[in-house]
Amino acid sequence: MKYKLDKVIATRPTKTVYCDNGKTIKLFVENYSKANILNEALNHARVEEGTDLNIPKLVEVTTINNRWSLVTQHIEGETLEKLMNKHPEKEDQFLEVFVAIQLEVLSKKVPLLSRIKDKFRRKLTEAKNIDENTRYELLQRLEGFKNHDRLCHGDFNPSNIIVTNTGEYYIIDWSHATQGNASADAARTFLLFSMQGKDEIAEKYLNLFSEQSGIPKKNIQRWVPIVAATQMTKGKEEEYEFLSKWIDIFDYE
Ligand SMILES: Nc1ncnc2c1ncn2[C@@H]1O[C@H](COP(=O)(O)OP(=O)(O)OP(=O)(O)O)[C@@H](O)[C@H]1O
Ligand SMILES: [Mg+2]
Repeated sequence: MKYKLDKVIATRPTKTVYCDNGKTIKLFVENYSKANILNEALNHARVEEGTDLNIPKLVEVTTINNRWSLVTQHIEGETLEKLMNKHPEKEDQFLEVFVAIQLEVLSKKVPLLSRIKDKFRRKLTEAKNIDENTRYELLQRLEGFKNHDRLCHGDFNPSNIIVTNTGEYYIIDWSHATQGNASADAARTFLLFSMQGKDEIAEKYLNLFSEQSGIPKKNIQRWVPIVAATQMTKGKEEEYEFLSKWIDIFDYE
């Protein structure tokens, strides 16, 4: 076999990530949607070729024992998430870097990516577990946002940033990349922190992002119920109660 799969670097319910000979092999479970994997590869390639951002090179898309995999350049280092857990005293410093990297991403344009409003509209329309009225209100609100064309990572959180031992950083995991509104990308990051129970960091992040980007907090908060509703479509039942809370906040605004 071309790759030795004995060094596991991460395990998820639907994939295992290995490292071998300077490459990262993200190996999906059998029967995982080919379209999703190819879409992740395409998004990654578009960002890699269309920007000068530090991202690992996509090496190949291949199958190993009937399982699809994405092979990328392996970045030696630690995720920002690990570093933040290890050094809680440096939280503010790390958050500053985190926001600066996100703003660098958001300063880029990759015109061939899907548009965030199209993606969210589709997801909201499919969201069968949200009541009809709420869904309608959220769709109306979505249409009210202007069309922007910033590069949005879509899953911007510290586990998707790798810091090397020389202090360089790489941004990984471009499966959810779109072009659209910076506020929407920030709302998702805020929600990702909240979903992990990191409420204090979530608030700090929101304040910092707003300060550094010049985007009023209120504009970001207006996206949160929409982003929470799109997360509902992922079908993770354990998240429903939490997400419903964020969607309901909408009623009281
Ligand atoms: N090119 C790479 N170089 C080094 N480590 C990597 C690379 N790609 C992935 N990893 C490691 O594997 C982990 C999971 O990879 P990735 O984020 O791409 O998968 P994921 O399924 O999206 O995970 P999650 O849903 O938790 O974000 C990363 O957090 C990182 O530790
Ligand atoms: Mg990831």
